[in-house]
Amino acid sequence: MKLLENMVKQDGKVYPNNVLKVDSFINHQIDPKLMMEMAKSLYEYFKDKNITKVLTIESSGIAPAILVANLFNVPMLFAKKSVPSTLKRNSFYETKVHSYTKNVTNNIIVSKDFLHSKDNVLIIDDFLANGRAAMGLVDLIEKAGASVVGVGILIEKSFQEGRKLLDKNNIDVCSLCRISSLENGKVEFNKADDILKK
Ligand code: G4P
Repeated sequence: MKLLENMVKQDGKVYPNNVLKVDSFINHQIDPKLMMEMAKSLYEYFKDKNITKVLTIESSGIAPAILVANLFNVPMLFAKKSVPSTLKRNSFYETKVHSYTKNVTNNIIVSKDFLHSKDNVLIIDDFLANGRAAMGLVDLIEKAGASVVGVGILIEKSFQEGRKLLDKNNIDVCSLCRISSLENGKVEFNKADDILKK
């Protein structure tokens, strides 16, 4: 998606260990117009898939996920990284997600009340890096007996393992911007899918 690539080129900052900071328009301050355009592109890609729910993980996935869910006119559900004291044992699905970037392992959960076997679920997240967050969400969906329709991502770091992992699991991935390298502080992009060229 050209609009996003241009923003990344203009305002993204490359940090050590292949981290791209996009705090001024995605991860801290959010550009609502750009976010809406990104949501529309993801809606366009998945619109014929009979989506009944959009699932993400707190915190940065929530903004794109809610806009995408609004376009599908379905609820947005986010996995929590801690168990609320009001949730009883056995009333939620749980899985472990290790973050290589942050070097922490979180138990992520969703309440059984909000994910059902009849759901066709679209996963949305801001970054695809090592794919652990996305695979954790896939695991929660499978635990509920629901179906994974695909994964919609704003920024994919294609040189990390996530894309390969999702492809290997036959999961349909739509990434709006695919970064092939962050070496020497320079952002290089992959060729985008046709639908996302505007
Ligand atoms: P994975 O989610 O694909 O497995 O990758 P990884 O473990 O490396 O990433 C962990 C967290 O770091 C995720 O956020 C992910 O979105 C974020 N992340 C990964 N690479 C980058 C990057 O280059 N730039 C930025 N800004 N974030 C990156 P999270 O743990 O879900 O936390 P939150 O930030 O959404 O709260």
